[in-house]
Amino acid sequence: MPRMLVTGGAGFIGANFVEYTVRNHPQYDVEVLDALTYAGNRANLAPVVEVVPFHHGDVCDRELVDRLVSRADVVVHFAAESHVDNSLDDPEPFVRSNLIGTFTLLEAVRRHGCRLHHISTDEVYGHLPLDGPDRFTETAPYDPSSPYSATKAGSDMLVRAWVRSYGVAATLSNCANNYGPYQHVEKFIPRQITNILRGERPKLYGSGTNVREWTHVDDHNAAVHAILDRGRLGETYLIGSGDERSNAELLAMILSLLEQPADAYDRVPDRPGHDLRYANDTTKIRSELGWRPRYDDLRAGLAATIAWYRSNEWWWDAAKKAAEARYQTLGR
Ligand code: NAD
Ligand code: DAU
Repeated sequence: MPRMLVTGGAGFIGANFVEYTVRNHPQYDVEVLDALTYAGNRANLAPVVEVVPFHHGDVCDRELVDRLVSRADVVVHFAAESHVDNSLDDPEPFVRSNLIGTFTLLEAVRRHGCRLHHISTDEVYGHLPLDGPDRFTETAPYDPSSPYSATKAGSDMLVRAWVRSYGVAATLSNCANNYGPYQHVEKFIPRQITNILRGERPKLYGSGTNVREWTHVDDHNAAVHAILDRGRLGETYLIGSGDERSNAELLAMILSLLEQPADAYDRVPDRPGHDLRYANDTTKIRSELGWRPRYDDLRAGLAATIAWYRSNEWWWDAAKKAAEARYQTLGR
């Protein structure tokens, strides 16, 4: 059985990936490495706790990473600091985990000749005008705006350089915004849902016209498996649903699903350097690997996500208090 190490496997996308892999790709023997930062939670792995060994540790820990990589055939690297607002407030952990962490992993992968898939974001390409047909492609120039996206851009560059200079067997993917169960309550969709469930008003940054391309987490993870199975080494693949929505439009959908008046939200000060629009051209992964999103009804996906947060208040209660306390200090 090929042995797979998943870094960041106790976070939102990583935990969904581990469960997706156990369910749909049982040929893999999966292990998780995760530092359990404020964003990681062992409970996210409860459905697979019997079959997936968990290693509590830092991806910057050279000895630990070396030991785990030495017995893996493939590493899927999700571990990162992931929230733009936090990066604006305190960039240091982003530089450490996203850059030093990826460097540490790459060196272990190089020593042991292991296959790597690096998970990244469309934010590395900067942003697009609000109106217009443009989309990011795999060859778009890098132009990150925030400390988060700058460190993810740097981590991508490290992976590309290790492929070119050392022949490391790696692929990369840059996905659009994800949604689904287990997403931390600091992020847009869970923040608004849990605000409403708590009787608080949702918070919309600035004009609310900024656009994101919402992709279900299982579609992202299916794309990662398509790349692991059939992707060309050294290549980058963009992933996204094609479903673009302004923040105001998405909030209106959440309000209506939760039977709230359309104006029952607060406008709060904008995020500094707020990227206007992200949109990925997914022609390459569709035509080369035959991947396509299965979740093509955002309203239905949101309804299922709302149902998950409604049923799992125990999971988000403590994190919600901490996240809202942080937002209060940021004035958002
Ligand atoms: P998340 O914040 O929910 O989870 C990150 C996980 O990484 C947590 O479990 C955390 O404990 C762990 N981690 C952080 N620093 C670590 C370190 N130094 N060592 C070991 N573990 C560490 O993030 P997410 O939303 O699941 O994102 C996962 C990956 O996907 C990230 O690389 C992110 O850049 C990328 N991504 C996210 C999205 C999105 O919409 N959320 C979209 C595209 C790409
Ligand atoms: O595009 C992929 C990226 O998507 C990932 O790389 C990041 O890890 C992930 O966090 C996400 O980044 P965003 O900044 O787009 O996501 P966030 O959920 O923080 O915000 C989505 C949009 O909603 C953004 O335009 C800011 C806005 N927003 C956010 C919050 C938390 C609000 O209007 N109100 C809010 O309360």
